[in-house]
Amino acid sequence: MADKTVSLKDNSSGKTAELPLREGTLGSSVLDIRKLPKELGHFTFDPGFKATASCESAITYLDGGKGQLMYRGYPIEQLAEKCNYLEVCYLLLHGELPSSTEKEQFETNIRYHTMINEGLRKFLDGFRYDAHPMAMMTGVLGSLSAFYHDSTNIHDPDQRIITAHRLIAKMPTLAAACYKHSIGEPVLYPRNELSYASNFLWMMWGRPTEPYEPDPVAAKALDVLFILHADHEQNASTSTVRLAGSSQTNPFGAIAAGVASLWGPAHGGANEAVLRMLDEIGSVDNIDKYIDRAKDKNDPFRLMGFGHRVYKNMDPRALIIKKLADEVLEKYGDDPRMELARRLEEIALKDEYFVERRLYPNVDFYSGIIYQALGFPYEMFTVLFAIGRTVGWIAHWMEMISDPSMVIGRPRQLYVGPAERNVPDLDDR
Ligand code: CMC
Repeated sequence: MADKTVSLKDNSSGKTAELPLREGTLGSSVLDIRKLPKELGHFTFDPGFKATASCESAITYLDGGKGQLMYRGYPIEQLAEKCNYLEVCYLLLHGELPSSTEKEQFETNIRYHTMINEGLRKFLDGFRYDAHPMAMMTGVLGSLSAFYHDSTNIHDPDQRIITAHRLIAKMPTLAAACYKHSIGEPVLYPRNELSYASNFLWMMWGRPTEPYEPDPVAAKALDVLFILHADHEQNASTSTVRLAGSSQTNPFGAIAAGVASLWGPAHGGANEAVLRMLDEIGSVDNIDKYIDRAKDKNDPFRLMGFGHRVYKNMDPRALIIKKLADEVLEKYGDDPRMELARRLEEIALKDEYFVERRLYPNVDFYSGIIYQALGFPYEMFTVLFAIGRTVGWIAHWMEMISDPSMVIGRPRQLYVGPAERNVPDLDDR
């Protein structure tokens, strides 16, 4: 029997269930309801998992009330300042920051896997030139399962780690290849002497015909953005990866499911939607009108980049990104949308509607302004999110698969359709 329990009484039958209350290292305690159907004959109802922990995890902790985010116990602010993205990848995958030897070895492993199979380039050619890059990424990621048969035994830890390295290494190559396809330019091979972010910049903006050296300011900004997007515990896309992976499917297929989930405007697609919204608002004079629209329940318009399921305080990632945006704009020239975003934030944060509901800017509010300054088209913004988040998806997938108590995810439902009835003959319908 657990130290703490909660008694749940069914008033109709008079039966009581004694449910264990489980404590994690940090955060709210969790009521373990697994024996509820057996003891009381009931399931629980929680659409959107607003009150349900779907798993145990030791990767990321966030406190929405405090606006705190930590990977493996390390505050996001310190990781963004002191580490590069690949060190953070290692931390998420292995639980500890790498030593200098481990760091070097890990970087070598990632470098070794940056190329994509030539067959994948032909696969890309099948897409229309104007296909959304997230559509291409979903397809291409899924297709990796058809290329790497030697790393799909999910029960072998060595194969799992090779899959992890492949995915982290190939994401920038695939992302840049999707972009090059959309503009009709040759897909470039990675330059492995460059850092992770610089290599991506080369594959995005380089051309085979002329020299190109990635800008260190741009590379540093991207690297920090990848760190900030690397994981966010059980968000929609990570939960999708876990659910897909729980059937023991091919890992590349599970990650492709995560990419598809990320694309939605309520999730990673919000960074693209924010810039489109700022363009639509156009000027500071129009802000009040759009704030009124966001508050109007008959209007589907929402303030994109605002609000979060868990954060009821400032998203710590948004604070870092806002500062980073100022630094990037100082080098790349001011963007009137930055001023518009700042004013929008200021006005919304004083508005009773947003104050009451504790709606604050989230990670997507300022990131698009940086991406835009660095030259990325709007359609690529969510792809950039996906590059950073890939390690989080794999870390969660590996944590789940290596847990001996893993079971297939299979939610229940409250059925509200017709009760049993007989199929009438065709003439009687
Ligand atoms: N603009 C206007 N009203 C909002 C907004 C917003 N952006 N977000 C929430 N609300 C209102 C909502 O209408 C509801 O009001 P009421 O209680 O009167 O019905 C209340 O706030 C609670 O909202 P909810 O929809 O129940 O909250 P949720 O946890 O289900 O949704 C969310 C979270 C992120 C989907 C939502 O805040 C939203 O749609 N935000 C805009 C899209 C966005 O920026 N998404 C990125 C999320 S963070 C990064 C990521 O996941 O990729």
